[in-house]
Amino acid sequence: MIFAEGPSEVREHVANWRRAGLSIAFVPTMGNLHEGHLALVELARRQADRVVVSIYVNPLQFGPGEDFEAYPRTLDADQGKLTVAAADLLIVPRTTDIYPEGAERHTFVEVPGLSDDLCGHHRPGHFRGVTTIVCKLLNWVQPDVLILGEKDYQQLVIIRRMVADLAIPVTVIGGATVREPAGLALSSRNAYLTPDERAQATELSRALTEGSTALLRGVGDFSRIEAECGARLSRSGFRVDYVSVRRATDLSVPTPTDRSLVILAAAWLGRTRLIDNRRVDLAPSACQQ
Ligand code: PAF
Repeated sequence: MIFAEGPSEVREHVANWRRAGLSIAFVPTMGNLHEGHLALVELARRQADRVVVSIYVNPLQFGPGEDFEAYPRTLDADQGKLTVAAADLLIVPRTTDIYPEGAERHTFVEVPGLSDDLCGHHRPGHFRGVTTIVCKLLNWVQPDVLILGEKDYQQLVIIRRMVADLAIPVTVIGGATVREPAGLALSSRNAYLTPDERAQATELSRALTEGSTALLRGVGDFSRIEAECGARLSRSGFRVDYVSVRRATDLSVPTPTDRSLVILAAAWLGRTRLIDNRRVDLAPSACQQ
């Protein structure tokens, strides 16, 4: 695996591959890699001839008082995992190359509206940080395929929108969420959970499964599903930011005729904020058949 820090090194390696006619998939991460990330690398390997991974804990997507300093940084272990996973190029950018004038003076890329909803409502500026760094790294790598996890569903929808709006020539592919046997979605932030909280945390996945089952059973009262799911989480000790049923494609508020839905939630256990979601594809309704 090749190691690169700055844009010129990255471009040189990518240009060599391009000259050899090879295609490139890119997996941006913040490191502390787990099986969920490695599944994305594996997906990337199936999509293209060469796989580029970046590890950068992006200060611009953390708000004041969030866990930027505490975010787990495990570069040596990550490098070992990526070598085993046969990634071809690892980029560990220097902040001076990413934000030469400082993060707050940098040009921003922002998807309005979508970035202020759901997690964006609770984490103002977060998605602006995400779209800015992903756009920048896409300009470094210029891959054919961008791979992102479906666990961060709103992030995936926002980046698809950014790519479409800015006509960035890349195909965005979402990788399925990887879960522990009891259902908890893998996340670097799970490391913050105490053993008791870890046991409680599985309830997030269970509550969303129950919500998605209600949708599949034909319950069309989305507010009731959201309220029941939220109440279940509160009873289990979560402090709920939101539970919301949305249209899967664009996260708009669905109408009763929408068939492609997603139920998303964000909730706190102690000092740990967890997010998860379930896609629900309903059969076409009788009047649409
Ligand atoms: O999902 C993440 O880990 C981050 O938001 C990303 C896409 C790497 C941008 O920093």
